[in-house]
Amino acid sequence: MRGMYKHASVALFAKLATGHIISHQASIDYAGAPPNLSTLANFSLFQTWRPRSHVLPAFGQIGDPCMHYTDPQTGLFHVGYLYNGTGASGATTEDFVTYTDLNNKSANFIVAGGKNDPVAVFDGSVIERGINGTPTLLYTSVSYLPIQWTVAYVKGSETQSLAIARDDGRNFTKLEHGPVIPSPPFAVNVTGFRDPFVFQNPQVDSLLKKTNGTEYTIISGGTHGGGPSLFLYAHYGDESDNFKTWEYIGEWWHEKANTTWTEAGWAGRWGFNFEVGNYFALDKDGYNPQGEIFTTVGAEWSFDPIVPQVSDNREMLWAAGKQSIVNGSIKFEPTMAGSLDAGRSAYAAAGKAVASSSRASQKSGAPDRFLTYLWLTGDFYGTLNTPKAQQNWTGSLLLPRELRVGCLNVIDNELARERGAWRIDAEHDNGTVTLATLHQKIAREPLAAFKSNANAVITQAGGLRSSGATFDRSPSSKHYVLSASITFPSRSNCTMAGLEILSGDLETTRIYYQFSNESLIVDRSRSSAAVATNDWVMTETESGKLRLFDVPGVIGTKVETLDLTIVVDGGIVEVHVNDRFALSTWIWSWYEDSKNIRFIAEGSEVEFGNVTIWEGLIDAWPERST
Ligand SMILES: *[C@@H]1O[C@H](CO)[C@@H](O)[C@H](O)[C@H]1NC(C)=O
Ligand SMILES: *[C@@H]1O[C@H](CO)[C@@H](O)[C@H](O)[C@H]1NC(C)=O
Ligand SMILES: *[C@@H]1O[C@H](CO)[C@@H](O)[C@H](O)[C@H]1NC(C)=O
Ligand SMILES: *[C@@H]1O[C@H](CO)[C@@H](O)[C@H](O)[C@H]1NC(C)=O
Ligand SMILES: *[C@@H]1O[C@H](CO)[C@@H](O)[C@H](O)[C@H]1NC(C)=O
Ligand SMILES: *[C@@H]1O[C@H](CO)[C@@H](O)[C@H](O)[C@H]1NC(C)=O
Ligand SMILES: *[C@@H]1O[C@H](CO)[C@@H](O)[C@H](O)[C@H]1NC(C)=O
Ligand SMILES: *[C@@H]1O[C@H](CO)[C@@H](O)[C@H](O)[C@H]1NC(C)=O
Ligand SMILES: *[C@@H]1O[C@H](CO)[C@@H](O)[C@H](O)[C@H]1NC(C)=O
Ligand SMILES: *[C@@H]1O[C@H](CO)[C@@H](O)[C@H](O)[C@H]1NC(C)=O
Ligand SMILES: *[C@@H]1O[C@H](CO)[C@@H](O)[C@H](O)[C@H]1NC(C)=O
Ligand SMILES: *[C@@H]1O[C@H](CO)[C@@H](O)[C@H](O)[C@H]1NC(C)=O
Repeated sequence: MRGMYKHASVALFAKLATGHIISHQASIDYAGAPPNLSTLANFSLFQTWRPRSHVLPAFGQIGDPCMHYTDPQTGLFHVGYLYNGTGASGATTEDFVTYTDLNNKSANFIVAGGKNDPVAVFDGSVIERGINGTPTLLYTSVSYLPIQWTVAYVKGSETQSLAIARDDGRNFTKLEHGPVIPSPPFAVNVTGFRDPFVFQNPQVDSLLKKTNGTEYTIISGGTHGGGPSLFLYAHYGDESDNFKTWEYIGEWWHEKANTTWTEAGWAGRWGFNFEVGNYFALDKDGYNPQGEIFTTVGAEWSFDPIVPQVSDNREMLWAAGKQSIVNGSIKFEPTMAGSLDAGRSAYAAAGKAVASSSRASQKSGAPDRFLTYLWLTGDFYGTLNTPKAQQNWTGSLLLPRELRVGCLNVIDNELARERGAWRIDAEHDNGTVTLATLHQKIAREPLAAFKSNANAVITQAGGLRSSGATFDRSPSSKHYVLSASITFPSRSNCTMAGLEILSGDLETTRIYYQFSNESLIVDRSRSSAAVATNDWVMTETESGKLRLFDVPGVIGTKVETLDLTIVVDGGIVEVHVNDRFALSTWIWSWYEDSKNIRFIAEGSEVEFGNVTIWEGLIDAWPERST
């Protein structure tokens, strides 16, 4: 059942390895076969797969990202995350490149154990100008466990409470009163009721005839026998109420249990319960309160809710759509939906609108943006017995992403007309349509910094390639960003194309696009030699649906080019494609020399553009090493 850690699996709970210590100073031979890593000394695997440029605590176990905000006083962005099963911790950044821990040793700024939250602190979000203008946290205060959509809900287990930032956010002090949202809506038999996400939106103000600037929150969950839902609340009263009173508006979004946007798989499954719902509005440049309404949700499902381990699944989805008043209640109805990240360990995205006036945006010239961080669970939601003491850390966040509405002019055919992770924005009289979809890119500041601060830049000539050709020069480390583009002669003759990375004599990871099922695939079956002696090493293939459309060519039509951006940062591999697809995963490559890169092209040769590799990335935590 759900343990102290959020998303702890029903199946089992990883324990920290104790004992079985061989020596304190084990020096590890990365030219030799990997041993059973749980038998090594504490701390000995700290560097092996540790990312340099990602957000993670100094040590210990990271959970969901949440509680982000821009401090109106300093303009600094605060990135938060659940930490160690006991509370939440975080860091500040003025550029989304380097971060400063709020507290020494990444200690928590809020911990469970108060009257409202005797058992746990789950996700929350911050009203930036909250009580007396101070950042104010609305979070899920937990009183009973287990909580799981597969079991009956214990009344009162999840409530929503307030805490106020002190000492520039190093401490969030809980208010001396009970939960401000003390129970789910009247008589609703919920599957979950957590992760409040606060927002303001003038479109909701006008639909509900509320005062401009009203504060809202959605709370994620679902109903037993019904399906997943996002419940909408509005702050009731004026400033003097100090966010203590919230009016239930209704089920803003509800989907029938065990359904999906499309059985073709463009948007996973809605499942039985939503978690970590976010609400925001986007236009073609970024965040715009008057723009198109988007939501991101974590969907929990299983084909067999009685024995959920049989197909226990979590998916990180997005949907865009229309809000309207139906029978007197505000309702959201999707017009397109997709996967925010197709990696099975990528989950719990938490975003925040970041104004152009914030410190980082002023420096980079970015417009108003909606930035989101996803979690990459390090022990597959608590089900893997990873060598935690040897590594000393578990899990990470992924690089922040900028979200906006993206458009693409394509040939008007059945590929464009199918219901998928896109919608038709405009029809033209020349045989094309403009599609709209969710665009997501690695935030501009870190991506630019990785390139401008590279300690080496490798350019590999492209050209017509078939499988096996090795790069002339390989990266010298396992920390780099790579960009490549692939042009297919047609849909029919090339069956798959991509790159093999982290390759050596005994290990390789294959990343490729496969036309037969229109999927971007990361084949991990030979990624890590450690699998022979470590049963926690996952080898399952990662895959996600990605459609390459037909687009107008110089003469006639052609298949859209595949533009790959791959970030390798220790054990983390993030694959970003065509600004609208991401798949992130762990690759536990062991051997020192597993660094080669090779072309993959099967069925026929394909045309690769020049491949560029920027090596080194950037230490996101310069103050930790001092
Ligand atoms: C992590 O949790 C454990 C067990 O609850 C506790 O003993 C330890 O102090 C916590 N560490 C941090 C850094 O909060
Ligand atoms: C962190 O530790 C340093 C040195 O021990 C100390 O000077 C500093 O005040 C501490 N910072 C916080 C936020 O506790
Ligand atoms: C924050 O400050 C309050 C009041 O001093 C204190 O009771 C609480 O323990 C602190 N919280 C953390 C996480 O340090
Ligand atoms: C709520 O749903 C659970 C699970 O289906 C069921 O066991 C319980 O009886 C329901 N409670 C009410 C009050 O209907
Ligand atoms: C509310 O805000 C919208 C957009 O921000 C603006 O167009 C409208 O005039 C405002 N209405 C009032 C009553 O202030
Ligand atoms: C959910 O839907 C899938 C696919 O249609 C089906 O195989 C499965 O049996 C359903 N599960 C439940 C509990 O209805
Ligand atoms: C509106 O409410 C009526 C009466 O309860 C119901 O029959 C109808 O289906 C509802 N319409 C929609 C769109 O939900
Ligand atoms: C290794 O780490 C575990 C878990 O943190 C701890 O219980 C054990 O005492 C440590 N062993 C040594 C030799 O420090
Ligand atoms: C990680 O190392 C720190 C510092 O040595 C230690 O305090 C902590 O208990 C370790 N945590 C884990 C999970 O190994
Ligand atoms: C078709 O018309 C649209 C809208 O005017 C235009 O953007 C697009 O470039 C045109 N495409 C071709 C192939 O002419
Ligand atoms: C790919 O197939 C097309 C016909 O579908 C053919 O004209 C073309 O020559 C083929 N290209 C290659 C590189 O095999
Ligand atoms: C690795 O060692 C640990 C600790 O001794 C043990 O529990 C585990 O079963 C071993 N794993 C394998 C695959 O032998």
